[in-house]
Amino acid sequence: MCGIVGYVGSSEKKEILLDGLKELEYRGYDSAGIAVIEGSNLNSFKAVGKLENLVEKAKSFKADSFGVAIGHTRWATHGKPTELNAHPHLGKKSYVVHNGIIENYQELKKELIAEGVTFLSQTDTEVIVHLFEKYSESSEPFEAFQKAIERLDGAYATLLITQDAPDTIFFAKHGSPMLIGFGEDGIYFASSDTAIIGKASEVYYLEDGEYGYAKGSDVAIFNKEGKVEFTKKPLSSDKVSAQKDGYRFFMEKEIYEQSTVIVDTMMGRVLDSEVVLDEIESGFFDGINAIKICACGTSYHSALAASYLFERMAKIRCDVEIASEFRYKEPLLSSDTLFITISQSGETADTLEALKMAKRAGLKSLTICNVDNSSIVRESDVALLTRAGIEKGVASTKAFATQTMLLWILAIYIAQLRESVSKEQIASEIEAMRHSPTVLKVTDALHSKIHRLSKRYLHGHGFFFIGRDLFYPLALEGALKLKEISYLHAEGYPAGEMKHGPIALADSNLFTVALMPKTLLYDKIKSNVEELSARDATILAISPESFELADDFIQTKYASHPMLEFFEMMVVTQLLALEISIRLGNDVDMPRNLAKSVTVE
Ligand code: F6R
Repeated sequence: MCGIVGYVGSSEKKEILLDGLKELEYRGYDSAGIAVIEGSNLNSFKAVGKLENLVEKAKSFKADSFGVAIGHTRWATHGKPTELNAHPHLGKKSYVVHNGIIENYQELKKELIAEGVTFLSQTDTEVIVHLFEKYSESSEPFEAFQKAIERLDGAYATLLITQDAPDTIFFAKHGSPMLIGFGEDGIYFASSDTAIIGKASEVYYLEDGEYGYAKGSDVAIFNKEGKVEFTKKPLSSDKVSAQKDGYRFFMEKEIYEQSTVIVDTMMGRVLDSEVVLDEIESGFFDGINAIKICACGTSYHSALAASYLFERMAKIRCDVEIASEFRYKEPLLSSDTLFITISQSGETADTLEALKMAKRAGLKSLTICNVDNSSIVRESDVALLTRAGIEKGVASTKAFATQTMLLWILAIYIAQLRESVSKEQIASEIEAMRHSPTVLKVTDALHSKIHRLSKRYLHGHGFFFIGRDLFYPLALEGALKLKEISYLHAEGYPAGEMKHGPIALADSNLFTVALMPKTLLYDKIKSNVEELSARDATILAISPESFELADDFIQTKYASHPMLEFFEMMVVTQLLALEISIRLGNDVDMPRNLAKSVTVE
């Protein structure tokens, strides 16, 4: 993840950087660092661990003449969380900070070492500053920067400062977020607007492929077509509304963020022909013959989806339990079972207690969690972090998406260890994973269609979300989203089970949201929906295949892999809940009676 900040101007730079980094600390706190150039003075400070260590280290430092400054808070990907690996990275006379992963860094590093460059860190980032300095020998700084970023593959948001141009910050964005803030006292850069609220009054959110420089108060932005004419947006000085980046609710913003946070979740884990999970030591799975997953709410739904993947791909027995039920059922636990917990907050009391019980019974434990250093992470033998960033909407969206992605990666990881699937199949899973960010992108057309259609679904006597296989847990999650923010009654049900009772409820006031993927049991679910339609239920079909009995139809596009269909339909159900809730005038982010972190039984 990592967070970056930058500033060009005359105000006291250390405070600007530290304030900004404080707001970005949720993105990573393995180390933090700042670098400042004022005229011929070049200063930098770095500290391992939380930002407070850097604050202490730089206590007596002040930088208030005109100059440039960059800062970074790190979530380690390449290289351990040490001071040498902390950003900013120094060349001979330049500093760089970076968020993302430079995928071809090994090749670039080899080339630079052969040319006599000495590397101080194990990071991928350091290649940027050395490439820049290499090209600086024969080019002006901006041209050298352009040449350096042309060599980079992968994801980056990067800032570079150099003594050769002490009034300038060079920047580039591709795949990782970055914005430019414009204030009376100077130009600001940050990974998220929370870092510059109260300082900048206008903002420009950089697009992928854009790069440029800020020199004094002049900002020039380029892409591969040439100079970019950009329009600034006003930046609210009110922290809460500004953090929404123009979205009406945090939940809406978080739905839109899914296509980028999923990239963070995959980073360094999904490689060309295999998945890797560095957090898991070799031998961890020795003697493990079964998996038990325990979680609550939305996290329980991702667990249920994972159970299909674990059994189908990794060929390992997997059962799933609601944590509050598990705690009191006097479960029989055997030490050949891996105990997995899933939690966004890492503080859910029932999940935490279930984990403690499993540990007392001698089980190995692994957690899929979004909050590092949370109680569940600290209690688990292994923690795989979802890297979704802070989730503020009480109704979980991006946490669910990243949990599901990470569980998919884990299923393939175990499949690799157990050699339960062929190399070709692993390659096709990886290809599908790489498509996920595209599938998760919300298009204007989809959002406005759901907005229009939501009008029909404000009344009636309830909703059934139905699906089969992987799409049954998604139906449960779709129903949960709707009920928690709209207060309408909704149930998720396995489509094949409707005729064993619930179909008695069918009439035109029963709304059925049918998840009809093309890649899994299409004909089966089609028959189930036909049975409901024959009894006059109002059908909203979500499918790549048009369905003549549907009263409303949302056509999906990605019918090449069940997980891609899963992610696409997930976005549809999230937007449907959002739009219904907004029409009903509810507080989407803070629904009644709920709290984000449930730390009581
Ligand atoms: C629903 C929701 C809750 C949580 C549940 C578990 O949108 O957010 O159902 O999923 O309270 O919380 P975590 O994942 O923090 O353990």
